[in-house]
Amino acid sequence: MIKAFVFDAYGTLYDVQSVADVTEAAFPGHGALITQIWRMKQLEYSWLRSMMGAYEDFWAVTRQSLAYSLDVLGLEPSATLIDEIAEAYNCLTPYPEAEAALAALSGYRRAILSNGSPAMLDALVGRSPLAAQISTVLSVDEKRAYKPDPRAYDLVQERLGVAPSEVVFVSANGFDIAGAKKYGFRVARIARVPAAALRAEIGAGPVGPATLFKALRSQLEGLGYAPDFEVSSLTELARLPGVAPAAH
Ligand code: 2OP
Repeated sequence: MIKAFVFDAYGTLYDVQSVADVTEAAFPGHGALITQIWRMKQLEYSWLRSMMGAYEDFWAVTRQSLAYSLDVLGLEPSATLIDEIAEAYNCLTPYPEAEAALAALSGYRRAILSNGSPAMLDALVGRSPLAAQISTVLSVDEKRAYKPDPRAYDLVQERLGVAPSEVVFVSANGFDIAGAKKYGFRVARIARVPAAALRAEIGAGPVGPATLFKALRSQLEGLGYAPDFEVSSLTELARLPGVAPAAH
């Protein structure tokens, strides 16, 4: 029986591409490349820090990956500008359907489990209309381990008091889908970039930074852990098998 829906934040409820206006305003002509390298490195640094036993919180990871991105482009920002640009991750735009989709699941516990630090998630969720629809925001920070490390997913059982089989874990991120499925959750993938659309985009060429990012990060990983459900919009979650309609 499903008791809770647990959502990834970045890329699932909130659009990480929405930092592009800020990166472009700071460095005109470079925004697209900065935006994509930054997100790719942000995730890589989270995995590397977990594997190296060198945990620093996601705000540090977000700033360090931004600094890397600017450095490879030969840009030399001040520490203040790094902070100002990184702040864009605390103001991401929710996906348009997210608020109504969460409201349609009001009969269930609805939580976020994110790599974001507690301060980042306070800012991001607290400023957005999604706050009213989420009962619990869990940061992996207290485990000092990033998803897909199982210790990060342990927080769901520990803090919500539900078994993994009673959870639908929702993510658009391939690494998170594989990790959550391996952990034992029921997993719903939001396929924001259908494979056929991506192939058409690549075929139409030339392949720019956004398309390369989609090729690396928007598809299912080939790790042998397929999700239980696949939807193209968060709205479809309320219609999954075994999900009861919200009471009005
Ligand atoms: C998260 O929200 C980083 O998308 C990942 O945890």
